[in-house]
Amino acid sequence: MSHVMDTYARQPVAFVRGEGVWLWDETGKKYLDALAGIAVNTLGYGHPKLKKALSERIDSGVLHTSNLWRIPSQEAAADRLAEITGLDEVFFCNSGLEANEAAIKIARKYGHERGIAEPALIVMEKAFHGRSLATLSATGSRKVQAGFEPLVSGFVRVPLNDLDAVRQVAEHNRNVAAVMVEPIQGEGGINVARLEYLRGLKEICERQQWLFISDEVQCGLGRTGKWFVYQHAGFLPDVVPLAKGLGSGVPVGACVAGGRAKGIFKPGNHGSTFGGNPLAMTAVITTIDTIKEEGLLANAARVGELIRGGLPHAADIVEVRGMGLMIGVELARPCGELVKQALDAGLVLNVTADSVVRMLPPLIMSEAEGREVLDRLVPVLTAFLEKRAAA
Ligand SMILES: Cc1ncc(COP(=O)(O)O)c(C=O)c1O
Repeated sequence: MSHVMDTYARQPVAFVRGEGVWLWDETGKKYLDALAGIAVNTLGYGHPKLKKALSERIDSGVLHTSNLWRIPSQEAAADRLAEITGLDEVFFCNSGLEANEAAIKIARKYGHERGIAEPALIVMEKAFHGRSLATLSATGSRKVQAGFEPLVSGFVRVPLNDLDAVRQVAEHNRNVAAVMVEPIQGEGGINVARLEYLRGLKEICERQQWLFISDEVQCGLGRTGKWFVYQHAGFLPDVVPLAKGLGSGVPVGACVAGGRAKGIFKPGNHGSTFGGNPLAMTAVITTIDTIKEEGLLANAARVGELIRGGLPHAADIVEVRGMGLMIGVELARPCGELVKQALDAGLVLNVTADSVVRMLPPLIMSEAEGREVLDRLVPVLTAFLEKRAAA
């Protein structure tokens, strides 16, 4: 019996080697990876630039120093994030929930500075922001919250893509200091916020002087064909929490702030022992530079389009959703067993929100490999739908 705490329903497969978009399990079986460790392995496996940069970091002997001292690689990583986000300052942490905790703290402090005694954030139904007490309270899923009450207060929930609901809150609730939204909900089922909606939300934020927090932990960092989803909508948010793909497999998160959120945190307001250490910063710098050097934004758009366009039309496929290499296929019924069936066919994917097949491939996936995803997925999907139709 394993001594690992039993918090996950794991598949009985272990990947022990990887190269490009390919993985091998303990028996030597080869798989095509259309999940990237849930949007983490941006550069796939064994990318030569990442291997070289991390090896050099290890050779330097300095993996960690602490935020008591200057960290030049942290400054260099922050410069890059400021450039690609269009925002001003970066707090580094180690995960998505930490990036969101920082965002929630910034929103509360911003509210207090505006004279709001009990600042609140507007959050969305079906959102996922993490599993700390504050971020699970912000999350729009009873399954995530159940058993952990009392929840953290100060969150007002509205449906995604419903501006009237936000206007109603604006009219009746004087405590709101910020809106927090995933522009494409990942765990919730690849639910895409309409760009018109995002622009409308931004306008309301401007009018009300609320912070706009764009949780791009899953959808950000190039996956949709631009660095960030708000760039498709054409405006700047105030806060952008990031993690997952930021370090291509090295754990790292970041809370990027600008606009009204700039300068809210002062020395002593927030901290993290590991946050922004030289090992993680080397991964961030290399990930961002490689996305640029290898044209991976355009690649994500192109290969994503190819995969979405090649999915079959069938009565039991409710909708194909997403942007770039963030792809959801909603089926008419729960389809958890598809994960195992895809593994059997040598394809790694995931099912979320019970009935949505989710693919988040590495951004280095080529068009040929995208076609290979379809070659493996379509028969599995078709067999699943036919079997269910016959049952
Ligand atoms: C949009 C979003 N925010 C936050 C998180 C939490 O990130 P982490 O698991 O690194 O704490 C996730 C994780 O799935 C996410 O998808």
